Amino acid sequence: MAAPSGRPLVTLKLATSLDGRIALANGTSKWITGEAARAEVHRLRAAHDAVIVGSETVIADDPELTARLDPMPEKQPLRVVADSRGRIPASAKLFSTLEMGPVAIATLENTDLDANGWPSTRGLQFWMLPAGEGSASISLTAMMDSATRAGVGSMMVEGGGQLAAGFIRAGLVDRIEWFRAPIVLGGDGRPCLGALGLEALAVAPNFTRTSVRELGPDLWESYLRNGGVR
Ligand SMILES: NC(=O)c1ccc[n+]([C@@H]2O[C@H](COP(=O)([O-])OP(=O)(O)OC[C@H]3O[C@@H](n4cnc5c(N)ncnc54)[C@H](OP(=O)(O)O)[C@@H]3O)[C@@H](O)[C@H]2O)c1
Repeated sequence: MAAPSGRPLVTLKLATSLDGRIALANGTSKWITGEAARAEVHRLRAAHDAVIVGSETVIADDPELTARLDPMPEKQPLRVVADSRGRIPASAKLFSTLEMGPVAIATLENTDLDANGWPSTRGLQFWMLPAGEGSASISLTAMMDSATRAGVGSMMVEGGGQLAAGFIRAGLVDRIEWFRAPIVLGGDGRPCLGALGLEALAVAPNFTRTSVRELGPDLWESYLRNGGVR
């Protein structure tokens, strides 16, 4: 399913503490939510054409980002990493699981692809993109164009907080799936959303809650962007 503008429909998935943290200050994040919530995340992965994380999440957690269900889904989502400077290591599980499903590295146009020892196989694609805001990161709007060209109609943003904030700032988040665990991690924990630079409440991105479900000890809240999908 694509947004009316033709770009992929974007879901932001958050798995947080009650106070909206996704990791401790030292980066520990496994596991904040319980088993039932994590199983739903695998179902959501399987329901999207692509999932995306920021480079820091790959460096900290080394996730596979595959949809692991029983039975396994027929098709895995395209796994995308926003890695503007080509920093994720060649040893990342994303590369050792390429036989399970394809991976795309979204990086700056001038990144030297030979410098980091990444494998050159059919399952790995590179999206060479212009810089976005702040020039250190990729343009998410250009990234959406690459995703559309790759046949992606729906994409789930899996964090971390900096990438999630980038998508919100760019006005690209259509839905939020928020898994909230009954623990608090405190202000020194890592926030689920980086800075948005808002100066008035009136311009804060806002959403309508469409459902709340209990998943064992956790809550799963779903939201749709107000004003419709753009
Ligand atoms: N609880 C959970 O479900 C969950 C989920 C995910 C992550 N986490 C935790 O979150 C932490 C990592 O989150 P984080 O916020 O530090 O980093 P992050 O969002 O994973 O990655 C941020 C990096 O992405 C790259 N990037 C490229 N283009 C970007 C753009 N347009 N906007 C924003 N970033 C862009 C930048 O690095 P380059 O300059 O290298 O491109 C940036 O520094 C880890 O501790 C991880 O465990 C938890």
